[in-house]
Parts: sequence; structure tokens; C-alpha cells
Amino acid sequence: SRTRVGVVGAGPAGLLLAALLRRAGVDCVVLESRERSYVERRQRAGVLEQSTVDALRGCGAAERLDREGLAHDGIELRWNRRAQRIDFPSLTGGRRVWVYAQTEVVKDLIAHDLTAGVPLAFGTPALAVTGADTDRPVVTYRHEGREQSLACDYVVGCDGFHGVVRTAVPASARTTYERRYPYSWLGVLADVPPSCDELIYAHSPRGFALHSLRSPTVSRLYLQVANGTDPADWSDERIWDELDARFAVEGDWRLRRGPLTQKSVLPMRGSVTEPMRHGSVFLAGDAAHIVPPTGAKGLNLAAGDVIELGRAFALRYADGTDRALAAYSDTRLRRIWRAQHFSYSLTTMLHTDPGDPDPGFGVRLQLARLDRIAASRAARAELAENYVGPATR
Ligand code: FAD
Ligand code: DHB
Repeated sequence: SRTRVGVVGAGPAGLLLAALLRRAGVDCVVLESRERSYVERRQRAGVLEQSTVDALRGCGAAERLDREGLAHDGIELRWNRRAQRIDFPSLTGGRRVWVYAQTEVVKDLIAHDLTAGVPLAFGTPALAVTGADTDRPVVTYRHEGREQSLACDYVVGCDGFHGVVRTAVPASARTTYERRYPYSWLGVLADVPPSCDELIYAHSPRGFALHSLRSPTVSRLYLQVANGTDPADWSDERIWDELDARFAVEGDWRLRRGPLTQKSVLPMRGSVTEPMRHGSVFLAGDAAHIVPPTGAKGLNLAAGDVIELGRAFALRYADGTDRALAAYSDTRLRRIWRAQHFSYSLTTMLHTDPGDPDPGFGVRLQLARLDRIAASRAARAELAENYVGPATR
């Protein structure tokens, strides 16, 4: 079979790209190795930037987001038992973010794409991509036990960090820059109303903690843990006690406890593969880059990539120019490195470094950075601008 754009992976990047291409009248086929129910249940991110929300609205996939998504006008930072709110609208000219789980974005996009008639094949792993240096790249894939192939004008790898499309680019033509952080996150979902309307990012001598939410009745919490941690070593009670200790603050704030319904450990790393295009093959989302989750940028960068690609393909098929496609990699890499630096900066300001040879010095630097944020509107604006992301074009 053949199509114009072969999209590998039906995570947020592949699904949104398919919606954007469909709206622009550009044929595509989406291949996804997992089953639909698995893809819809994978617990991940929860914070959407304005530009991500605008893109979902633009392709008509935001009806439920507009009903159920929670607009957030700020976050709270905690350290030394004190709290500092960062108010987004007043620091960024009116911008804000939305809390709406990645699982829900994925469900909405799958329903939207299927209704729009996008060929979306679950249980269909791509095995290899050949012909990246030609104008007729081919994806071979397995469907119901049989190997088949899809000839395309272009292939876009939206197949995540462990995807195969990246390997279609010759090793000599790509470079991966990587940083591993010496800690992980233990993430839990709790059937209990959030203890605060806003996200709380806490620095403490015991390590980082984050309070987030999924809905008015479900809390999402994260704890810094050592790399290699087995979630089974963390009983519910140990998790709640540790969260209590790390969120400790002056005043009468209390963390609400409830049954934990999920526990998982996420290692923290940054990674960028350059360039994001080779011949007729493009990379987007986690297939090209990973950021540590502290700044909530992963999902938004993935969306930003495919918004740019959607525009570039629309132009390519409207008037034959591939100038926007040619600029894609450079345009996105500038944005990605900005987000990589922001994520690094927030991560290292808030996490305890177990390998620091002079931890007393390191902690005092962190506290100096946090005190600066409390003291300076300019420092708060710097954080807020990065957190809410770039204004929509
Ligand atoms: P993915 O969501 O990874 O989607 C890739 C898709 O490709 C998957 O459906 C996969 O099954 C499919 N695929 C892979 N190989 C093939 C193949 N060979 N053939 C066909 N299909 C294939 N970000 C935050 O901001 N906050 C968080 O708390 C957070 N938590 C995270 C927790 C985990 C465990 C992970 C992995 C990521 C987390 N992220 C978080 C990052 C964020 O979820 C990702 O940036 C986002 O999912 C990227 O979307 P994507 O579509 O590029 O990739
Ligand atoms: C969530 C995850 C993040 O990485 C973050 O910075 C904020 C919120 C979340 O899963 O809700």
C-alpha cells in the first residue's frame, strides 16, 4: 500500500500529527505497535501549554478538554518550610497552563482520528524504514503475523524513545547528546481529592516532591528516589509519610491521604538526537528528544514538533515548496534546547544530588536560587515564561 506521510507511533505526537494532516487534506497512515487499550492507559504527563491546547482546539479534538481540563494560573514552590506562589498571568502577559492528563489527550485524539477516517492501525509494529535517502521511503511492518510494506513520500518517526525510525538514519548522519541524572521519580496515583488547587514543587533535605492532580477527585504525586528503586519497596504508608515530610510548610496545610491505585518509577534523563530530519525521514517527540519531567515539557515539545511539521507538510502539498520542511530541524532544535535547559535548571534547583562531594555547598546554592525567586519579580518572570511555554504563533 502507499500513502503520502507514513506516521510511526500513536502516542500524542503521532495522533496529533495525523489530526493536523487530515485537516490539511494530506493523506497519512498511522502504525502503532501496541493495542488501543494499552495506549489509552499509559500514565504519563498532565500539564498542557497554551499552544498544545490551541492545536487540539484547531483540529476539533478539544471538546472534552474544554469541559474537563483545569486552567492553572500558577504553581507553588516550597523550601525551608516556606511557600512561594508563581503567578503566571501577571508575569507572562496573561498566559496560563491546563491540567489534563495525557491519557485523556490520547483517548480524545484516537476518537477524533478514527472519526475523521485516518487509517490508524493498532497492534502493528514498524520493523524498519528503508530509503531515507530517496524520495520513496518504505516502512515494513507486521500486521496479524504478516510482514507488509508501506511506501511513502515521507516517514515521520513518532515512535518514542525506544522507536525504530531513528535507526533509519545512518549512524554517521546523527548524533545523540545525552545526560543522565542521578535520581528517578516514584510516581503514584491516589483516589483522593488534591490537597491544593495548584501544583506544588518542593525542595527538601530529603529530596524533591511534586503534588499534582488528574481531576477534582484524583491526586498525582511524585517523589525523588534513588536510581534503580523498585516501587515494591515503597509501601503506601512509607510513601505518604515521605510526602508529608517533604511538603512540610509553616501553617496548617495538610496532605490528604487515600488509596494508591498505581506506582511506577521513571529514571530522569535528557537526550537530543540531531538533526531531526534525514532525507525523507523526520523524527518528532520522544523519538528525537527526552527531557527530565520536572518542567512538564515532554508532551508539549512533542506537540510543538508536530504542529511545526503539520504546517510544513500542508505547505509542501499546497504549493510544492519544501522550505518549511527544510527548516524543521533547526527551528525545533532551538526550542528543544531552550526546554532542555529549563528542565535541567528546575531539576537541579530542586533535587538532592546523592553524588555531590560537597553537599552543603550544593544545597546552599539551591537555596540561594530559590531565595532569588522569592526576592525578584524578574526571576519569577523567567521561571513563569519558561513554564507556560512560547506564545502561539
Ligand atoms: P510516546 O508517547 O512514547 O509514543 C510513542 C508511541 O510509539 C507509543 O505508542 C509506542 O507504543 C509506539 N511505538 C514504539 N515503537 C514502535 C514501532 N516500532 N512501531 C509502531 N509503534 C511504535 N512528561 C511530563 O511532562 N510529565 C510527566 O510526568 C511525564 N511522565 C512520563 C513518564 C514516563 C514513564 C514516560 C516514558 C514519559 C513521561 N513524560 C512525562 C514524557 C511524556 O509523556 C512524553 O514526552 C510524551 O509521551 C511524548 O509523546 P510521543 O508521542 O513523542 O511518544
Ligand atoms: C505532572 C508531571 C510533571 O512532570 C510536572 O512537572 C507537573 C505535573 C503530572 O503528571 O501531573
